[in-house]
Amino acid sequence: MSDSIDTVERAAGVAPPFLRSTRGALGAGRDLRRRLLVHHVPLALASTAGLLVLLRVRPSDSGFSIAQLASPTGDVALVLLALTLLLGPASLVLRRRSPPHTYLRRDVGTWTAIWSVVHVVVGFQGHTRGAFGFVRYFFADGKPLIDSFGLGNWTGLAATIIIVLLLVLSTDRYLRELKSRPWKVLQRLNYALFALVVLHAIFYGALRRMTSPFSLILITTTIAVLVGQAVGIWLYRRNDRVRASAPGARRDVGG
Ligand code: HEM
Repeated sequence: MSDSIDTVERAAGVAPPFLRSTRGALGAGRDLRRRLLVHHVPLALASTAGLLVLLRVRPSDSGFSIAQLASPTGDVALVLLALTLLLGPASLVLRRRSPPHTYLRRDVGTWTAIWSVVHVVVGFQGHTRGAFGFVRYFFADGKPLIDSFGLGNWTGLAATIIIVLLLVLSTDRYLRELKSRPWKVLQRLNYALFALVVLHAIFYGALRRMTSPFSLILITTTIAVLVGQAVGIWLYRRNDRVRASAPGARRDVGG
C-alpha cells in the first residue's frame, strides 16, 4: 500500500516526506538509473581497482592462495566504511546540507557490505575444514577463544552482524517505517562498527607489521576518520551557534 503511494508521488514528481529533507545535499538524487551510473558503477570499478592494486603490492613469499585475499578485501571494506563516515563532514566543509540520510552514503554503505561479505567468506578459508570448521575461529576445547586470534574473530563477527543490520535498515522501507530520527540513531552504529573493524585488524596483527601497505592503510584511514569527525563536530557546533545568534532565531526555554 505505502509502495503504491510512493509510486504515485514519484509519478507526480513529489518526494515522499522522509526524503524531502535531503534536497541540496551531496548525493541525494534518488533515481535508480542515475544512482547506478553515478554511484554504483564508479564504486564497483574503484573498489575492484583498489583490490587489484593491493593484490599487486601484497608481500608474498609463497604462491597465491584464496586466504591471501583476506587483507586486501578487508582493507577495501575498511576504506569504503571510512568513506561513509567522511561524507557527513565533507558536506559541512563544502557547505552543503547534511541530512540524516543521502543515497550516496547509503550506496557507499551497500558496497561496504558487499566487500565485507566477500572478506568474511575469504577470511574463513584459512582454518575451516568441514561444515562446522568455522567454529574453531571462536571456540577451542569447548571454551570461547580469547587470545588475539579469537578476539580478532569475535570483533569481526560483531562487525559483520552490525553491517548486515545496517544494510537491511538502509532501505527506503525501514527509513519510512522507523522515521528519520530513530533511523539515524540506529545508523550511528556505524561508529561502533568502525571501532570494531579497527580492533579486529589490530587483533589480527596489523600493528605488528608496520611497514606492510595494509597496516599503512589502516593507520591512514583511522587518522582520516578521526580528523574528519573532529572537523565535522566543530563545523556543526559553529553552524549551530551562528543559527542560534541569528536575528529572529527561536529560543527554546527550559529545555
Ligand atoms: C567473522 C568475520 C570475519 C573474519 C573471519 C575475518 C577474517 C580476517 C582475517 C583472516 C584477517 C587477516 C588477514 C591477514 O592477515 O592475512 C582479517 C583482517 C582484516 N579484516 Fe577481517 N574478518 C571478519 C570480519 C571483518 C569485517 C566485517 C571487516 C570490515 C569491514 C573486516 C576488515 C578487516 C581488516 C581491515 C583487516 C586488516 C587487513 C590488514 O591490515 O592486513 N573483517 N580479517
